[in-house]
Amino acid sequence: MSVKLWDFWADHYSRLWVQKVSLRPTREYVLREIEEIAHGRKMLLLDLGCGPGELLKELGEKCPQLELTGLDYSPRMLEISQQRNGHTKHILMDATDLDKLETMYDIIVCTHSLPYYRDPKKVFRNLSRLLTKKGRLIVGFASGNSVYDKVVLSAVKLTTGKANYPSDREFVEMVKEYFQVLKLNVINKRAFFMPRIAVYTLGKKMDSRE
Ligand SMILES: C[S@@+](CC[C@H](N)C(=O)[O-])C[C@H]1O[C@@H](n2cnc3c(N)ncnc32)[C@H](O)[C@@H]1O
Repeated sequence: MSVKLWDFWADHYSRLWVQKVSLRPTREYVLREIEEIAHGRKMLLLDLGCGPGELLKELGEKCPQLELTGLDYSPRMLEISQQRNGHTKHILMDATDLDKLETMYDIIVCTHSLPYYRDPKKVFRNLSRLLTKKGRLIVGFASGNSVYDKVVLSAVKLTTGKANYPSDREFVEMVKEYFQVLKLNVINKRAFFMPRIAVYTLGKKMDSRE
């Protein structure tokens, strides 16, 4: 999907019908997961594909001790996030270029953004470099796990353009070189026409000599 299409959606994002059935329920779960991981501790968090910064705003309110950074390649999404989250650091960058980043993060979160990456394997290689040793990576996405999900998602693609919604097996295959799966949560379906939404919590795969 092109940056221009995301720029277009940025101004309508908080009113999209998928907020109620997909984006918000994912955010609610991710917020709880992050609260549990951070447990009041000061940590660095990166929201990859942060969109217009709704999660960052809620995190700022619920976990004020976290040092937050939002990254997105859509200038308009980032602009809206910046307006919403005045004190948060923002980075305008394509996820494929993460090799340009040096800062390490204790928590990296990536919701509903992975299906649009050109080279997801490269993204995960970089995320493993950017995640601290005991850090956590949380990835949420609509997964094409069944024929039904694939049919629904082909309709979603009409609004997002090119996308690849991985099945669980494909996702695990994609990340297994760098990460181990610690938890998988499937967001409760709020509507029959919704695809399955999987949220994975991953830890870094340690070298057996470490
Ligand atoms: C569906 S929105 C999700 C926004 C937010 N994470 C959420 O859960 O509501 C997808 C976001 O990913 C961003 N995105 C897609 N491909 C990207 C890429 N290659 N690099 C950085 N951001 C990307 C888009 O600009 C958009 O803001």
